[in-house]
Amino acid sequence: MIRCDRTAAWAALKGHFEAHGRDFDLRVAFARDPGRFSSLSFEAPGVFADLSKNLFDVATLHFLLDLARECGLEAQRDAMYAGKSINTTEDRAVLHTALRAPRGQGPHTDEVHAVLDAMLAWAETVRDTAASGIRHVVNIGIGGSDLGPQMVVPALDAFVHPGLHFHFVSNVDGHDISTVLRRLKPAETLFVVASKTFTTQETMANAQLARSWFEAEGGTDIARHFVATTTNVEAAAAFGITTTFGFWDWVGGRFSLWSAIGLPIALAIGADHFRELLTGAHAMDRHFAEAPLAANVPALLGLLDVWYRNFHGATSRSVAPYHHGLRRLPAYLQQLEMESNGKRVDRDGEALPYATSPVVWGEPGTNSQHAYFQMLHQGTDLIPVEFLLVRRPTFGSAGLNDDLTARLERQQTLLLANGLAQSQALMCGKTAEQALADRPLPASAQADAATLARHRSFPGNRPSTTLLLDRLTPHSLGALIALYEHRVFTSGALWGINSFDQWGVELGKVLCRDLLPRLTAEASPEGLDASTAGLIARLRS
Ligand code: F6P
Repeated sequence: MIRCDRTAAWAALKGHFEAHGRDFDLRVAFARDPGRFSSLSFEAPGVFADLSKNLFDVATLHFLLDLARECGLEAQRDAMYAGKSINTTEDRAVLHTALRAPRGQGPHTDEVHAVLDAMLAWAETVRDTAASGIRHVVNIGIGGSDLGPQMVVPALDAFVHPGLHFHFVSNVDGHDISTVLRRLKPAETLFVVASKTFTTQETMANAQLARSWFEAEGGTDIARHFVATTTNVEAAAAFGITTTFGFWDWVGGRFSLWSAIGLPIALAIGADHFRELLTGAHAMDRHFAEAPLAANVPALLGLLDVWYRNFHGATSRSVAPYHHGLRRLPAYLQQLEMESNGKRVDRDGEALPYATSPVVWGEPGTNSQHAYFQMLHQGTDLIPVEFLLVRRPTFGSAGLNDDLTARLERQQTLLLANGLAQSQALMCGKTAEQALADRPLPASAQADAATLARHRSFPGNRPSTTLLLDRLTPHSLGALIALYEHRVFTSGALWGINSFDQWGVELGKVLCRDLLPRLTAEASPEGLDASTAGLIARLRS
């Protein structure tokens, strides 16, 4: 395992970037190479990836593949799959892939499938709403114990039990839980307290509040209305929760939706569909493990991430899912990528001389077009954009007549045309001469035609990737999420960092514990910096 900047391939890539990368022009590349789309688009299980609108070509790809080989990407991947302790600062294996391996395959298969079977069987008893009486499921968790289920449940809306409503409470800000509780009745509500550690301050505060609300509103039978998903079964029992589904320290929070943390998903879509989600992810795991690097989609995406971050200097990547169900995908990816790869030292603790995780951000198309796409087209930064298109819609049991269904399907075409048009506009741009030739040019009392044309021109040559799914199903969504996990693994492996710890979250937690009594006036603000002390004084006044 060699850190990327210490390889011969890195030096070669630098030379290649200076000679062919910095001034690469997508429009010229497409004009020169009629086979560009077919040579730079790739097939992975459930996902077709068009990488051809990126600022690279087959020559760049060869340099990047050399880099991956020299950094030992394949050996690092194999070590993860084999359960080696690759999370060195916590001395833990990283085995979310074992959670979706078929029965009898992969490490820990007996424990994994025992919990999975029990959880799915229990979920079915809740889904029998006539017998269970449950109408509302409230997941109380934060970070990895929230973002996965919160993203997947709306994404698979077409498969969700029609009699169940799902709520996700994460923030310690009481405005979060109070708006949810207002709509609930204890007898119809199931609370899922989701916490890997069962110590997270926000989750514990919300769980205690939910229990107090439940009792105050006349709720009985906590055992039936509260369930915990955690690695800390003892703490859940101490809290008074007797129904618990466990998982293990080798499942990182941000990789945990496949474990008991996925219980809200199982409650929403049922056992068979949950198993399909796992099967889709497993298909992607196999692709990442077995496909040659030159056709390995997660690896290629991770390599492009390094290319943009370290050579083109891109500080962020924007994700635009053209499927409203995927509206929480950017938030999910923020934790997955930025908590994993937002690191400044290598595995040996040495400060890195190069950049790591970009900022990942986005909103669903077409809403994003009317918000920040202006900046993507005409702003001063290079921001690679990722378009996620889904060919066929899934409107579920909306109970619409044929005419309305046909109209919705036409709206799907409109949606797809918008996504394609944006990636085309980013790439092609529009010169001032073309803008000048636009007739009629709107008149402006303050700008002459040439000035106006400069405002109305687009530089183009702005890169994008298009990931295309046929339909958004449990299987394809499972594959898509696993694709992102392995892509993040790839860039982290090249950067030589530990993508599986998150020490950066700790300092704020410690300081919060110190500030709490100072805010409630139990402790004095002495010894604090002047700004924090001043703010505390104002808050207490
Ligand atoms: O934000 C830090 C973090 O540890 C995340 O990694 C994790 O997903 C989240 O807190 C929640 O932790 P837990 O599941 O233990 O409550």
